[in-house]
Amino acid sequence: MSPPTRPPADPARFRALMGRWATGVSVVTARGGGADAGLTVNAFLSVALDPPTVLVSLQRDADTLPVLARAGHFGVSLLAADQRALSERFARTLPATEKFAGVALHRGPAGSPLLNGHLGALECRVVDQRPVHDHVLVLGEVVHVEPGRDAAPLVFFRSGYAEAEGVDRLRLAPGRG
Ligand SMILES: Cc1cc2nc3c(=O)[nH]c(=O)nc-3n(C[C@H](O)[C@H](O)[C@H](O)COP(=O)(O)O)c2cc1C
Repeated sequence: MSPPTRPPADPARFRALMGRWATGVSVVTARGGGADAGLTVNAFLSVALDPPTVLVSLQRDADTLPVLARAGHFGVSLLAADQRALSERFARTLPATEKFAGVALHRGPAGSPLLNGHLGALECRVVDQRPVHDHVLVLGEVVHVEPGRDAAPLVFFRSGYAEAEGVDRLRLAPGRG
Protein backbone atom coordinates (compact mmCIF):
# COMPACT_ATOMS: atom_id res chain seq x y z
CA MET A 1 0.00 0.00 0.00
CA SER A 2 1.40 3.41 -0.93
CA PRO A 3 1.77 5.95 1.88
CA PRO A 4 -0.90 8.70 2.04
CA THR A 5 -0.08 11.76 -0.10
CA ARG A 6 1.24 14.55 2.09
CA PRO A 7 0.22 18.14 1.33
CA PRO A 8 2.86 20.52 -0.04
CA ALA A 9 5.02 22.31 2.56
CA ASP A 10 4.27 25.91 3.52
CA PRO A 11 5.70 28.21 0.77
CA ALA A 12 7.03 30.79 3.28
CA ARG A 13 8.95 28.13 5.22
CA PHE A 14 10.24 26.68 1.96
CA ARG A 15 11.38 30.11 0.78
CA ALA A 16 13.17 30.82 4.07
CA LEU A 17 14.93 27.46 3.93
CA MET A 18 16.03 27.95 0.32
CA GLY A 19 17.58 31.25 1.38
CA ARG A 20 20.25 29.12 3.06
CA TRP A 21 21.30 27.87 -0.37
CA ALA A 22 24.00 30.38 -1.34
CA THR A 23 24.03 31.22 -5.04
CA GLY A 24 25.72 33.47 -7.52
CA VAL A 25 23.68 36.20 -9.19
CA SER A 26 23.11 36.63 -12.92
CA VAL A 27 21.19 38.96 -15.20
CA VAL A 28 19.20 37.15 -17.89
CA THR A 29 18.55 39.31 -20.95
CA ALA A 30 16.92 39.10 -24.35
CA ARG A 31 16.27 41.24 -27.37
CA GLY A 32 12.91 40.58 -29.02
CA GLY A 33 10.57 42.69 -31.10
CA GLY A 34 13.20 45.43 -31.28
CA ALA A 35 13.43 45.90 -27.51
CA ASP A 36 15.77 44.72 -24.77
CA ALA A 37 14.49 43.09 -21.57
CA GLY A 38 16.24 41.59 -18.57
CA LEU A 39 15.92 40.50 -14.98
CA THR A 40 18.06 39.39 -12.05
CA VAL A 41 18.12 35.60 -11.71
CA ASN A 42 19.68 33.20 -9.23
CA ALA A 43 17.67 30.16 -10.37
CA PHE A 44 20.31 29.36 -12.97
CA LEU A 45 21.78 25.91 -13.44
CA SER A 46 24.17 24.10 -15.71
CA VAL A 47 22.28 20.92 -16.72
CA ALA A 48 24.39 19.24 -19.41
CA LEU A 49 27.88 19.55 -20.86
CA ASP A 50 27.45 18.01 -24.29
CA PRO A 51 25.86 19.90 -25.80
CA PRO A 52 26.26 22.64 -23.18
CA THR A 53 22.80 23.32 -21.75
CA VAL A 54 21.53 25.58 -18.98
CA LEU A 55 18.23 26.13 -17.24
CA VAL A 56 16.71 29.30 -15.83
CA SER A 57 13.49 29.43 -13.84
CA LEU A 58 11.48 32.59 -14.51
CA GLN A 59 8.33 33.82 -12.81
CA ARG A 60 5.38 33.33 -15.14
CA ASP A 61 4.53 37.04 -14.94
CA ALA A 62 8.07 38.34 -15.55
CA ASP A 63 8.01 40.99 -18.29
CA THR A 64 11.22 39.51 -19.68
CA LEU A 65 9.62 36.13 -20.43
CA PRO A 66 7.58 37.05 -23.56
CA VAL A 67 10.53 39.01 -24.95
CA LEU A 68 12.81 36.00 -24.43
CA ALA A 69 10.25 33.68 -26.04
CA ARG A 70 9.99 35.98 -29.07
CA ALA A 71 13.76 36.34 -29.34
CA GLY A 72 14.43 32.60 -29.22
CA HIS A 73 17.75 33.41 -27.54
CA PHE A 74 18.83 34.80 -24.18
CA GLY A 75 21.98 36.07 -22.53
CA VAL A 76 23.24 35.27 -19.03
CA SER A 77 25.76 37.67 -17.44
CA LEU A 78 27.34 36.40 -14.22
CA LEU A 79 27.75 39.34 -11.83
CA ALA A 80 30.88 40.32 -9.93
CA ALA A 81 30.77 41.53 -6.31
CA ASP A 82 31.08 45.16 -7.45
CA GLN A 83 27.99 44.83 -9.69
CA ARG A 84 25.44 44.72 -6.87
CA ALA A 85 23.75 47.89 -8.18
CA LEU A 86 23.04 46.09 -11.47
CA SER A 87 21.50 43.18 -9.58
CA GLU A 88 19.26 45.60 -7.68
CA ARG A 89 18.31 47.51 -10.81
CA PHE A 90 17.37 44.42 -12.81
CA ALA A 91 15.31 43.05 -9.88
CA ARG A 92 13.03 46.10 -9.94
CA THR A 93 9.79 46.30 -11.86
CA LEU A 94 10.69 49.07 -14.27
CA PRO A 95 9.99 49.74 -17.93
CA ALA A 96 12.77 47.98 -19.86
CA THR A 97 14.07 51.29 -21.26
CA GLU A 98 14.68 52.53 -17.69
CA LYS A 99 16.30 49.26 -16.65
CA PHE A 100 18.83 49.56 -19.45
CA ALA A 101 19.34 53.35 -19.31
CA GLY A 102 23.06 54.06 -18.92
CA VAL A 103 23.98 50.35 -18.59
CA ALA A 104 27.18 49.51 -20.45
CA LEU A 105 26.55 46.45 -22.61
CA HIS A 106 27.52 44.71 -25.78
CA ARG A 107 25.78 42.08 -27.92
CA GLY A 108 26.19 38.35 -28.20
CA PRO A 109 26.32 36.90 -31.73
CA ALA A 110 22.53 36.34 -31.71
CA GLY A 111 21.88 39.90 -30.46
CA SER A 112 21.24 39.35 -26.74
CA PRO A 113 22.51 42.15 -24.48
CA LEU A 114 25.48 41.08 -22.31
CA LEU A 115 26.44 43.38 -19.42
CA ASN A 116 29.97 44.76 -19.51
CA GLY A 117 32.15 43.90 -16.53
CA HIS A 118 30.67 40.42 -16.03
CA LEU A 119 32.61 37.46 -14.63
CA GLY A 120 31.48 35.41 -17.58
CA ALA A 121 28.58 35.49 -20.00
CA LEU A 122 26.68 33.01 -22.14
CA GLU A 123 24.28 33.30 -25.01
CA CYS A 124 21.77 30.50 -25.37
CA ARG A 125 19.18 29.31 -27.87
CA VAL A 126 15.85 28.47 -26.29
CA VAL A 127 15.27 24.73 -26.75
CA ASP A 128 12.35 24.18 -24.36
CA GLN A 129 9.99 26.09 -22.10
CA ARG A 130 8.04 24.25 -19.44
CA PRO A 131 5.48 25.92 -17.16
CA VAL A 132 5.73 24.66 -13.55
CA HIS A 133 3.10 26.27 -11.32
CA ASP A 134 4.01 29.97 -10.96
CA HIS A 135 7.28 29.68 -12.93
CA VAL A 136 8.45 28.68 -16.41
CA LEU A 137 11.59 26.56 -16.80
CA VAL A 138 13.57 27.72 -19.82
CA LEU A 139 16.18 25.35 -21.23
CA GLY A 140 18.87 26.92 -23.36
CA GLU A 141 21.56 25.41 -25.53
CA VAL A 142 24.72 27.47 -25.11
CA VAL A 143 25.87 28.99 -28.42
CA HIS A 144 28.39 31.52 -27.10
CA VAL A 145 30.78 31.39 -24.13
CA GLU A 146 32.47 34.63 -23.10
CA PRO A 147 35.01 34.69 -20.26
CA GLY A 148 34.99 37.91 -18.25
CA ARG A 149 36.93 39.52 -15.43
CA ASP A 150 38.84 37.46 -12.91
CA ALA A 151 37.05 39.09 -9.98
CA ALA A 152 35.12 38.08 -6.88
CA PRO A 153 31.51 36.94 -7.42
CA LEU A 154 28.33 38.58 -6.17
CA VAL A 155 26.74 36.08 -3.80
CA PHE A 156 23.13 35.88 -2.57
CA PHE A 157 22.49 34.24 0.80
CA ARG A 158 19.69 34.44 3.40
CA SER A 159 17.73 36.98 1.33
CA GLY A 160 20.67 39.37 1.05
CA TYR A 161 23.99 39.91 -0.64
CA ALA A 162 27.29 38.62 0.62
CA GLU A 163 30.54 40.23 -0.41
CA ALA A 164 33.78 38.54 -1.26
CA GLU A 165 37.00 39.74 0.33
CA GLY A 166 39.00 38.50 -2.59
CA VAL A 167 38.19 35.50 -4.72
CA ASP A 168 38.64 32.88 -2.01
CA ARG A 169 37.10 34.49 1.08
CA LEU A 170 33.43 35.49 1.49
CA ARG A 171 31.81 37.53 4.24
CA LEU A 172 28.28 38.80 4.83
CA ALA A 173 27.71 42.30 3.47
CA PRO A 174 27.62 45.08 6.13
CA GLY A 175 24.29 45.42 7.93
CA ARG A 176 23.47 41.72 7.74
CA GLY A 177 23.06 39.56 10.83
C1 LIG B 1 19.10 37.99 -6.05
C2 LIG B 1 17.82 37.87 -6.83
C3 LIG B 1 17.54 36.70 -7.53
C4 LIG B 1 16.37 36.57 -8.29
N1 LIG B 1 16.16 35.41 -8.97
C5 LIG B 1 15.06 35.29 -9.75
C6 LIG B 1 14.87 34.09 -10.52
O1 LIG B 1 15.68 33.17 -10.48
N2 LIG B 1 13.77 34.03 -11.33
C7 LIG B 1 12.86 35.06 -11.40
O2 LIG B 1 11.90 34.94 -12.14
N3 LIG B 1 13.01 36.19 -10.67
C8 LIG B 1 14.10 36.33 -9.86
N4 LIG B 1 14.29 37.47 -9.14
C9 LIG B 1 13.25 38.52 -9.19
C10 LIG B 1 13.28 39.31 -10.50
O3 LIG B 1 14.57 39.82 -10.77
C11 LIG B 1 12.27 40.48 -10.42
O4 LIG B 1 10.98 39.96 -10.15
C12 LIG B 1 12.25 41.36 -11.66
O5 LIG B 1 11.55 42.56 -11.33
C13 LIG B 1 11.51 40.77 -12.86
O6 LIG B 1 11.67 41.70 -13.95
P1 LIG B 1 10.74 41.70 -15.23
O7 LIG B 1 9.30 41.52 -14.78
O8 LIG B 1 10.98 43.06 -15.85
O9 LIG B 1 11.18 40.60 -16.14
C14 LIG B 1 15.44 37.62 -8.35
C15 LIG B 1 15.71 38.81 -7.64
C16 LIG B 1 16.89 38.93 -6.89
C17 LIG B 1 17.17 40.21 -6.14
